Order: sequence, then structure tokens, then C-alpha cells
Amino acid sequence: KETKEQLIIDAGQKHFGATMCKSCGMIYTASSPEDELQHVQHHYRFLEGIKYTGWKKERVVAEFWDGKIVLVLPHDPSYALRKVEDVQELVDNELGFHQAVPRCPNKTKTFLFISDEKRVVGCLIAEPIKQAFRVLSEPIGPESSSSKECHRAWQCSDVPEPAVCGISRIWVFRLKRRKRIARRLVDTVRNCFMFGCFLKIDEIAFSDPTPDGKLFATKYCNT
Ligand code: ACO
Ligand code: ZN
Repeated sequence: KETKEQLIIDAGQKHFGATMCKSCGMIYTASSPEDELQHVQHHYRFLEGIKYTGWKKERVVAEFWDGKIVLVLPHDPSYALRKVEDVQELVDNELGFHQAVPRCPNKTKTFLFISDEKRVVGCLIAEPIKQAFRVLSEPIGPESSSSKECHRAWQCSDVPEPAVCGISRIWVFRLKRRKRIARRLVDTVRNCFMFGCFLKIDEIAFSDPTPDGKLFATKYCNT
């Protein structure tokens, strides 16, 4: 059949270099069997992890044309907490974080951005803090950039400043980035973290930011 031939030709062209899966966003080399296997394994686990079926009791804290933000608190029903755990695991995997234990599990607030396609496409984990250290200018120079760790070696002030809300994770699904989802998550946290007040930029702090996180935070804090 015509259609089958077409499929084979398309697949053949894709078998060079890096491909990005249009549904899970993973970048892999289609010509490498190991990569393809890794992709298949990741694909289903990931899509299952971000699937959001809707909950009987959900705390919608913001609504938009393309989705909504749901807040999950530590004593919520186990189906909600399980979803948060699954999403956090995917996020930590992507970020390469392995210390999954939050400092104050019973004070953690998790904000999930749910898309119209019923998927968790954004996640922000916030916790109360008392102080933070300001990031000073740029990362330490090339002399010390021999290892992988260099990209997190921002120089911080050693003078603590008072703060209220620490953002320990912020993540947006790769295929939904640059649509202001992260910005809307942070705006919502500022609005909902402490009852009755809108937190100032100075009162929130991003912990251990990645390069993406730092680009976003710099932009967010200056606008
Ligand atoms: N490069 C340059 N500027 C950026 C980037 C980037 N990668 N990401 C955001 N910005 C800036 C832009 O100015 C953007 O506005 P514009 O699109 O109008 O130019 C502005 O920030 C707002 O960006 P959003 O669209 O709200 O950000 P997005 O929804 O794409 O999410 C995030 C940003 C969360 C950092 C995303 O890239 C991501 O999930 N990355 C991988 C995970 C990660 O590294 N998370 C941060 C970890 S640090 C921590 O958790 C504390
Ligand atoms: Zn995929």
C-alpha cells in the first residue's frame, strides 16, 4: 500500500541524528537501538505520569484559557499525593536531583498546571523559609569549571536576607515551554502561599537553580 511505503521513507529520513518525540518531548537518536529502547521505556512512563484524570475534590487556584492551576497540600487525599509524587519523580529525574526528601514535608505546597489536554504540564513545589542568600552576578569563572558541577556554582552572598517562600522545584513540560506557564505558576504562588497577601519578589527565593531556572528567575524578577 502507498501509505505503508510512505511511512518507511519518513522513518528512514528520521534515522539520522537527534529526534525529538512529538508527544513526550524526549530527544534521542533514532538510529541507536539503545536510545530507541530508552525512549520507548521513558515514553509510556512519562505520559502515564503526567496524565491527569481529574479529582472529585480539587483546589483550583487559578484558571486560564489554556488550563488551570491546582494546589495540593500535605493532608490531601492519597490519590492527589500520589500524583504529586509521580510528577516530582519525573521532574527530579529530568533535573538530575536525587535527594527527593523535602525539608518540611508537612508544609510543602505543590502547584500543578493542568493543560486542557488533561496533562500536568507544569509543577512548582514551594515551602516556607526564613532566609535566603542572594545570587551575586555571574557564575565563577572558567578556572573552576572543570566538572559538571560548575553550572550550579553560582556565587552567593553570605549575608542572609529575610524571605518567606522557597521554590525548591519549578518545571514545565518540554513541549510547553515559553508559554508563560512558569510565570503564571510563580504569580499564583505569590498570591496563594500566605493567606491574604501577595508576596513581594524579595520574599520568594529559588533554591539551587539550573541554567534554565536562572534564566527564567532573572527575567521574572526584573519584570
Ligand atoms: N532561556 C532564556 N530565557 C528564558 C528561558 C530560557 N530557557 N526560560 C524562560 N526564560 C525567560 C524568558 O524571558 C521568558 O519570557 P519570553 O518567553 O516572553 O521571552 C520568561 O523567562 C518567562 O518564561 P516562561 O514561559 O514563563 O517559562 P517556561 O514556562 O518556559 O518555564 C522553566 C521555565 C521552568 C525554567 C523551564 O524551562 C523548565 O522546566 N526547565 C527544565 C527544568 C528546570 O531547569 N527547572 C528549574 C530548576 S531550578 C528550581 O527548581 C528552583
Ligand atoms: Zn516519546
